[in-house]
Amino acid sequence: MEYIKLKNSDLSVSRLCMGGCPMGGYDWGSDIVEDELIAAVHCAIELGINFFDTADTYGLGQSERTLGKALKGRRDKVIVGSKFGVHAKKGTPTFYDNSPEWIRQSIDGTLSRLGTDYLDIYYVHYRDRKTPLAEVVDALEGLKKQGKIRYYGLSNIHQSDLPELEAYKGRFVAFQDEYSLATRKNEEDILGLSSRLSMTPMTWGSLGQGILTGKYSLSNVDFKAGDRRSRDIYVNFHGEKLLKNLKIVDELKLLAQKYDKPVSAVAIRFILDYLPESAVLCGVKRPAQILANAEGCDWKLSPEDIELLKEVSA
Ligand SMILES: NC(=O)c1ccc[n+]([C@@H]2O[C@H](COP(=O)([O-])OP(=O)(O)OC[C@H]3O[C@@H](n4cnc5c(N)ncnc54)[C@H](OP(=O)(O)O)[C@@H]3O)[C@@H](O)[C@H]2O)c1
Repeated sequence: MEYIKLKNSDLSVSRLCMGGCPMGGYDWGSDIVEDELIAAVHCAIELGINFFDTADTYGLGQSERTLGKALKGRRDKVIVGSKFGVHAKKGTPTFYDNSPEWIRQSIDGTLSRLGTDYLDIYYVHYRDRKTPLAEVVDALEGLKKQGKIRYYGLSNIHQSDLPELEAYKGRFVAFQDEYSLATRKNEEDILGLSSRLSMTPMTWGSLGQGILTGKYSLSNVDFKAGDRRSRDIYVNFHGEKLLKNLKIVDELKLLAQKYDKPVSAVAIRFILDYLPESAVLCGVKRPAQILANAEGCDWKLSPEDIELLKEVSA
């Protein structure tokens, strides 16, 4: 396994992080089984993966609950990140909320669901563009003093946020943005933010929500209601974007043969090589998926093959 030290911290994390969004069991299809998710976590740890990502909104807490169950007796071996900032409750409208009151309420729920008394990284999931950043940072520093969190990070930020964020350089250890061969639109943001603010970049949707694994084609992209990918907003599986993604997958398949790796592993390797300071978040549903994805680690794509993938995904 490859590891990286997160900026401004003493945390050393595996560059492949197991993502917990499908673990929420909500709107990701009907093939999600808790025992398999737990087995995937255990498999990940055996593979040397020590980094797990979740959020209070994934399945309205279900992802944190399942991860907590899986980590029972193993908590000290892993780094766990979770997120706050989406005020979601059954039966009421959802809105972004970074208020100190909501932060303090949220962390207690997260710790209780995870069955732990501290969180390694607490991310602002989405900025509410209302609460001054100074108040958010103060509240997070308060949680640090209480020992409830070790570090904090950001998510879904862009270079336009730089002027505001620069005052807090060195405080945030990492940020998450969507990035994959299917979605390179945030590339400039990621490169600019990580260098200007000295934070470790983390990519989400790193497999394009599954399209870059090579298992989908025009004949089987027929997600049912109850799977978010059935909706147009999940652009990777619809229209022109789907056609373009399938061309990228064709190239990935050739490289998978050349390097004798699973297709998903080549897609992950591209990010690991092209963004060498990053950690790559991949959601999985079962052990076979984490096994395949872990094959993305500990080798390198040739510079020519990186160029080829850049061209086909441009
Ligand atoms: N900060 C944020 O706002 C934010 C937003 C989204 C996600 N995230 C984090 O980033 C993580 C990754 O993003 P994501 O889960 O949305 O998308 P992703 O990692 O691009 O795709 C995950 C899906 O791909 C499929 N898959 C994964 N590995 C596979 C393999 N080896 N073979 C075949 N299929 C495989 C699985 O679905 P199927 O088997 O059903 O195809 C899985 O649910 C999340 O889990 C979450 O922790 C953060």
